[in-house]
Amino acid sequence: MAYTVFARKYRPLSFDDVVGQDAIAKTLKNAIKTDRVAHAYLFAGTRGIGKTTMARILAKALNCLATDGPTTEPCCKCDSCIAINLGEDIDVIEIDGASNNSVEEVRRLRENAIYRPARSRYKIYIIDEVHMLSTSAFNALLKILEEPPSHVKFIFATTEPNKVIATVQSRCQRFDFNNISAGLITEQLKQILELEKIEYEQDLLLPLAKMANGSMRDGLSLLDRLISTGAEPLATELLEEFLGCANSAKIHQLAEKIAESDAAGSLIAIDDLITSGVTELQIVDSFVDYMRDLMVVKSAGMQSELLLLSNQQRQQAEQLAQKFDIAALVYNITAIERLRWTIKNSEAPRTLLEASVLRFALSEHFMNVDTLLSQLKTDAPAALKKNIIETKTRSVNSSKLDFSDKNIKDAGRSLEHRTPSKKKNELINDPTVKMVLTEFNARIAAVEEGRSD
Ligand SMILES: Nc1ncnc2c1ncn2[C@@H]1O[C@H](COP(=O)(O)OP(=O)(O)OP(=O)(O)O)[C@@H](O)[C@H]1O
Ligand SMILES: [Mg+2]
Ligand SMILES: [Zn+2]
Repeated sequence: MAYTVFARKYRPLSFDDVVGQDAIAKTLKNAIKTDRVAHAYLFAGTRGIGKTTMARILAKALNCLATDGPTTEPCCKCDSCIAINLGEDIDVIEIDGASNNSVEEVRRLRENAIYRPARSRYKIYIIDEVHMLSTSAFNALLKILEEPPSHVKFIFATTEPNKVIATVQSRCQRFDFNNISAGLITEQLKQILELEKIEYEQDLLLPLAKMANGSMRDGLSLLDRLISTGAEPLATELLEEFLGCANSAKIHQLAEKIAESDAAGSLIAIDDLITSGVTELQIVDSFVDYMRDLMVVKSAGMQSELLLLSNQQRQQAEQLAQKFDIAALVYNITAIERLRWTIKNSEAPRTLLEASVLRFALSEHFMNVDTLLSQLKTDAPAALKKNIIETKTRSVNSSKLDFSDKNIKDAGRSLEHRTPSKKKNELINDPTVKMVLTEFNARIAAVEEGRSD
């Protein structure tokens, strides 16, 4: 038998099988039960999240031959249900708006719509990518949308609802489909692998689901690609090897080297990623994600549901997070995110990435403020040391803070003896160093405040 891709083989057949669109399924079922099905729907949302699927289920529900009237549970066995599942029913006409977008097409549709359905209750037009219709086609559509014959229903689907003209939108009931969370995609992939009896490594599915970016179809297609390699059990290395997804252990390694201010180690970690076939942009994306995970661990704890990590990854992240402070993580994320665009458009993306990572690794600002403080305990001049240690546990009165350059430089001067003089100026001008220095400055100011009180 010919091989059918998972996205087609596992298209949900009933309302309850559609993943992550519960509210929409419920509303549609309710409309059927109460006989309030609208004459036109607009299904909006990104690719591969169930718009066409839901449109076909609604069509089956309206036309199923096994019951006397519309039903919330189409049989999926009658001629009508079977033909609709295949997209080949005579009364459920699927039109691709991208290739049939002329006014003539819509006119033809209008002429045909007046004839009663061949064997079903309704003649249902499913128009995909409806935003691609030309303006004159839209206008031709308006007429029939205004007062369609009672046996006609329209279901429009679009990935760009803002391009559907307002007059059409206002004649439809609009549903905005959700992107599907990585957690739900993981569940679905798991079920399919079990049905297919394919062995896989536990840590494979979550990163795979994350790569799908909210699209179930993309998740299924990625899985198809992995399976077509013939490898079994499906191992996490395949992600890296065939899909160019940065291996999470390697990204952890990179972050670890940065945290340890290990310049050479950071460069080796990048090289390791690049030789495994991952692009600079993918490294940036995975690195940002990982910094985000560390930020979540720091602020919401390692058991937070906001983390899509395995238990082992949670523990690793928790340990590494201790080496960063939140300000540094926030800075990391914004700095690397800004870098993303530059890297994408650069002729020398690797050099840029390396330079930035080196900058991260070499800056003291990637060290936890507490670690810095403890270094100061041994290194700093006596007066500063005393001030900082005294204020370590005190709260800071922010209204009294003086963030002037002079103060920042004063605070910075205290670090001078630890900083090679050549780098000093660049470091002091670095926004995050400024942030850390400002915090010192604030603490010193607070002590002075305390004294003057
Ligand atoms: N919500 C979902 N639950 C389960 N499977 C889904 C879901 N959404 C998509 N899929 C899977 O992806 C395939 C494609 O989905 P569908 O055709 O409904 O996407 P779509 O939203 O119409 O996308 P497009 O905008 O690209 O047309 C389905 O056959 C199914 O295998
Ligand atoms: Mg579709
Ligand atoms: Zn049926």
